[in-house]
Amino acid sequence: MKIAIAADHGGFNLKEALKKHYDNIKLTDLGTFSQESVDYPDIAQKMVQTLRNHDADLGILICGTGIGISIAANRCKGIRAALIYSEESARLAKQHNNANIIVFGGRTMKSEDVIQYVDDFLTASYEGGRHQKRLDKLELME
Ligand code: RB5
Repeated sequence: MKIAIAADHGGFNLKEALKKHYDNIKLTDLGTFSQESVDYPDIAQKMVQTLRNHDADLGILICGTGIGISIAANRCKGIRAALIYSEESARLAKQHNNANIIVFGGRTMKSEDVIQYVDDFLTASYEGGRHQKRLDKLELME
């Protein structure tokens, strides 16, 4: 699986920590590359384009709280960005929502927790069935 990661300045440190931890997985880093202030909609847009180009199968997005960048990504057609906050929400974001972007807060979450959540998401499987009917309804709302 190809995974891309991107963050604004509020998520920069967490992005770097995840890259360091997952040195066995190819994580494509879409930026930002310093703590200089940037706008999270631009970062979300870059990730969406990467997924649409099939340059990644899954995105990891990070801003200060995870909220702004979730709002931005979820405005885009075909995107199901899930702001993860627990091990259970990580599993369910895959099992029920088949999220194509998982989102974290660089200022609100500890890196060791986020690593656990990423692992939980990656080892879960989409259940389909009644959940697919709901994802189909989401598409009709776009
Ligand atoms: C940037 O200061 C901050 O607003 C952003 O990272 C994010 O938390 C917005 O939701």
